[in-house]
Amino acid sequence: MKDEIYTPGDIRRTYENVHDLLVTKHIIKTYSTNRRDIRDIALRHLDLSSVRSVLDLGCGYGFFIEKLKGLLDPEALITGIDLVDNYEHAYLDTVSAINYRGSFIRGSVDLARGMASGSYGLVLSSYSLYFFPHIVPQVARLLAPGGIFIAITHSEHSLEEAISFVRGCMSKLRIEVPGQTALCRLFAAFSVENGLELLGPWFGNVERIAYKNSMVFGAEHLEDCIYYLEKKRALIYKEVMDRHPGRIIDIEKCISAKVFDCAKTNGSVAFNKDDGVFICTMEAPAGGRP
Ligand SMILES: C[S@@+](CC[C@H](N)C(=O)[O-])C[C@H]1O[C@@H](n2cnc3c(N)ncnc32)[C@H](O)[C@@H]1O
Repeated sequence: MKDEIYTPGDIRRTYENVHDLLVTKHIIKTYSTNRRDIRDIALRHLDLSSVRSVLDLGCGYGFFIEKLKGLLDPEALITGIDLVDNYEHAYLDTVSAINYRGSFIRGSVDLARGMASGSYGLVLSSYSLYFFPHIVPQVARLLAPGGIFIAITHSEHSLEEAISFVRGCMSKLRIEVPGQTALCRLFAAFSVENGLELLGPWFGNVERIAYKNSMVFGAEHLEDCIYYLEKKRALIYKEVMDRHPGRIIDIEKCISAKVFDCAKTNGSVAFNKDDGVFICTMEAPAGGRP
């Protein structure tokens, strides 16, 4: 797509190592100040017991579906789609661990265009819709009567402190700093703040649930903070990766120094990690839209 923020190559570089995604999920969980699991919040009021077909867009290893155990029709088939082929085994393992039938489609979510209308009782997009917000009309088309679409996403302010470290380092290294970094544009493509506006035209009802959070790394855990930032390098400092590959070591050293300086000044390093859940149905609730 001509206006894509990250290329399939950037996405594969960021996510192709299944182990890295598991470790970064573990880091997020360990250092999050909000101890509630956002997936439980998303699912808490939903009755999915008659759902027989699930489509999981940008599914990864199946982080969201881990929580579907026992909630669907026992005969349900869960289909994940992801650009990263390496997730296939991990995803199918996750599906069998929750005792449902699974299938995995390697490729872009644009393959959804070829799927039959009304064929899914549940469509999921967990931390992925900002990569492909153009697919929303297709999701509405794919939902069966009574079907539900659940999207989990970040705030536009997510990781703003880390992004300011990157901007400060680019300027220090005399690398041109863009008005808005690619990561900011990615978060703005589908966020807690604009999700209602983007989903509203396609669904009869959209509910937003805010999930306030931050990641706080104490002075004794800065290695985990730096590891987290490095694993996301193709997203967080894409501009340097693309245009100044010879400066990657310099930017990483500079970001590490900023992490240590920040902890020295404040006693810890904190990143905004506000997220949100959107629950969408085609049918407006009885009595009209709230
Ligand atoms: C942040 S990960 C989230 C993975 C998983 N849903 C979760 O909650 O852990 C984003 C996923 O979207 C996938 N992705 C991004 N763009 C895609 C596209 N156009 N088609 C299919 N998958 C895509 C990536 O490969 C990655 O696995």
